[in-house]
Formats: sequence, structure tokens, C-alpha cells
Amino acid sequence: MLRTALASAKGLVRRALLSRSSGIDLTRLDKVPDSLAWPLTRDGTSPSARLSAVRDEEPVHKLTSFLGLDIWLVTGHEETREVLGARDDYSTDIRPLMGRSGEEGGDFGGLGFTDPPEHTRQRRFLTPEFTRRRLARLEPMIHDIVERQLDEMAAAAAAAPGQPVDLVPTYAFPVPFLVICDLLGVPAEHREHFSTLATARFDVTAGGKGTVGAIGGSREFLLAETARQRTDPGPGLIGQIIREHGDEISDFDLGGLADGVFTGGLETSASMLALGTATLLEDRALWKRLCAEPESVDDIVEELLRTLSVVQVAFPRFPKKDVEIGGCPVHKGSVVLASLPAANRDPRATPGDTLAPEEASTSHLAFGYGFHRCVGAELARLELRVAFRALAERYPELSLAVPTAELTYYSSSIVYGVESVPVHLG
Ligand code: HEM
Repeated sequence: MLRTALASAKGLVRRALLSRSSGIDLTRLDKVPDSLAWPLTRDGTSPSARLSAVRDEEPVHKLTSFLGLDIWLVTGHEETREVLGARDDYSTDIRPLMGRSGEEGGDFGGLGFTDPPEHTRQRRFLTPEFTRRRLARLEPMIHDIVERQLDEMAAAAAAAPGQPVDLVPTYAFPVPFLVICDLLGVPAEHREHFSTLATARFDVTAGGKGTVGAIGGSREFLLAETARQRTDPGPGLIGQIIREHGDEISDFDLGGLADGVFTGGLETSASMLALGTATLLEDRALWKRLCAEPESVDDIVEELLRTLSVVQVAFPRFPKKDVEIGGCPVHKGSVVLASLPAANRDPRATPGDTLAPEEASTSHLAFGYGFHRCVGAELARLELRVAFRALAERYPELSLAVPTAELTYYSSSIVYGVESVPVHLG
């Protein structure tokens, strides 16, 4: 009896999803089950042995069935490119899983969860702000921010002689935070409050909302900031879009775009700086090479991006029709999760688990692939290159106060990271 009721409830859920209308509300989920969350668990900075084994044996793998949905895990490099590069076969509109119909509830918006043609229209507002020419204008500001934070690290060390300095609150977090504030045009007097809104995102231990990165008040803050700048456009991206395209975009959509930039750009870059520094300091030869040959930073950054792959899964893809991935049939109504750390270490297409700057290539998938590929990739590269190079120049004797095996890493977060990185400056 119970089993029949359950089966028919699951059938309803599946039909609701197939029609892409409301039926499931993941935001009500208190805990994401382990059968779904385990691919996010790592061994330090490396993907777990289980994830690597799944990739090597079955690069398109049925992860689980959950609430009547078949969830697929794609881990092969080629297969991941196939999914992310497909233009018409998948939707990333998550609203039908969040208890919203296709028309209502924009609070799960942002470019990542928007399909063409609306995605194409909104992305066009952003891309000019991320061209190399516009980014070159940001470069002096990035250098200033980096130098100021290096001073802060020295001040923290001087305040507690002999004690380690935590790199996360002094360097890894504030550098990308201040860069994004400048990029968006968030006024200086609002930044402290804004920084408190930037925590606890993307953590699946926070249930369904954390899983899709919908936690936090930054969106509300940026909606209010957009409304304010409508009458008084500031010097940053929000003001620029208002000046150039003000009558083509609503405050709601522009606030959502700004929040996408903020959430997409902060935790990712902060984690890359924290985990990247820990990796470099543990691999002393690599650190010394960076100190002696600062121009090697470009290749080192590419390899850190590839091997760390801090964004652990791309935006979920929902097949709009029955598809094949790497020859494996996947039905419409399923969910496809592409594991970027697994794909980026696929020995069939990359140097695998070895960090190999001499083989560095920009064709890794750390920024995704296809039309949802990270819009901020060049900004992230610029920030990371400036920040790692300046750190090595200022503190060549920098060392970890504890081995990387003893650091506290996030347990199961879509954006992987580390709580703190205690270091001695020299
Ligand atoms: C090291 C830092 C970063 C990493 C590893 C990263 C990674 C990614 C990945 C994997 C995607 C999704 C691709 C997909 O599902 O196909 C993405 C999308 C996105 N990222 Fe980044 N990102 C980083 C920094 C940034 C920065 C600095 C910004 C902006 C300032 C940014 C803004 C965005 C936006 C707006 C999207 C959505 C693009 C779309 O759907 O068209 N990201 N990023």
C-alpha cells in the first residue's frame, strides 16, 4: 500500500518535471543525501579515489535516482565537453525543481540558470565589461589592492610576533572581494556590510538552497544598489550598464546579473588563492621556481586552475529530449551533473593528477565550456597572476604553519575551499 502510494507520488513528480512545471521544491530539502553529495567530497585538494575510479571505469555514470529523477554523473573530459558544449539539448533553468513554474520566481535567476534566447540577451550586457581592454583598465587597481593586503599581512604578523598569519581573511578573501566591489561600483561606505553577506553559499550541508547557491542577502543588497544607481549611476559595471542599456534591462534583471558576478567571482577566486597558495607552499620547488622566474606565473596559474578545479560541478543540465552522452542513453527528465575536477584530471586528455606547468594549456574545463563558460575567466586569471606573483615577490620565505593534510577543507561544497591557511611570512 505504502509502496504503491510512494510509486504514484514519484510518478507525479516525474510527470511534473517532464512538463517543466512546478512539482519538486529542493529548497525544502534539509539535507542532500550522501548518494548525491559524495562526488563533492575530496581527499585534501585531490578528487577522492572513488571519483577517479568512477571516471576511469564509467565516465558517464548513473549516480542515483532521487525523488523519481535519474541523476547522471559525467566525469570524463571528452564527455563533459560534449554536455557543456551542446547548444540546444539541455536547459539549465532550475526553477521547476525549486517549486516554481517556468514563468514565476526569478530569485533563482542569474545567467547560469537562464536559457537562450534570454541568456544570450543578458550575457551581451556583461561581456563588454570583461574584454581584455576593459580589464587592462582594472589592472592598476588590482595591483593596489594586492599591495595593500600584503601590508595587512605584515601588520598582522607584527601584531602577534611568532604567531602564524591566516592567509584567508588577510589575503585570499579580501583581494577578490575588493576587486569585485570596484568592478561593480559598490560604494566604499557599504563594503563592510556587503562583506558579511558573502558567506555560507554553495554548501550542500545547508540543504537544497545551498546546493544551488541561492543563500544569502547579497542579491537583495545588489537589487537595492541597482535601484539607487538608476538615478545616480556609479563608475562601475552597474552604472555602466545603466548608462549604455538602461532602457533594455529591468532593475530586477540587472540586480540578478550583478549578483551572478558577485557570487560567481568571489568564493571561486578566494578559494583558488587559498588552495593555490597552500599547494605552492607545499611543493617547495614550485614555489622557488615562481620566486625565481615570476613570468612562469601564467603556466602555474593554469595548472592550479586545472588540478584544483574549485567549481566542483557545472550548472546542472536538464536534457530537453532523450540524448546520448559518450554513447550512453540519457532520458529527458534526468539531471546531468558534470564533475569538473574529475574531467580536468582525466588522464585520457590531461596530465592527470600531476601539476605540470611545462604542459600547461588553457583548454582545461575549470571555467566550464560552451555558452555558459565563465564570463569572468580573464578577470580571474588576471587577479590570480597578479596575486601569486606579488605574494612570491614580497614574501619569498613564506611557509605553511601546518602541513596541508592538517588544514580544514570544506566537507561538501559546490565551490571547494579551505577554512584557513596559517602561514609564517619568513
Ligand atoms: C577562479 C575563479 C573562477 C572559476 C574557477 C569560475 C568557474 C566558473 C564555472 C565552472 C562556471 C560555469 C560553467 C558551466 O556550467 O558551463 C562559471 C560561470 C560563471 N562565472 Fe565564473 N569562475 C571564476 C571566476 C569568476 C569571476 C571573477 C566572475 C565575475 C567577476 C565570474 C562570473 C561568472 C558568471 C556570471 C558565470 C555564468 C556564465 C553564464 O552562465 O553564461 N566567475 N564560472
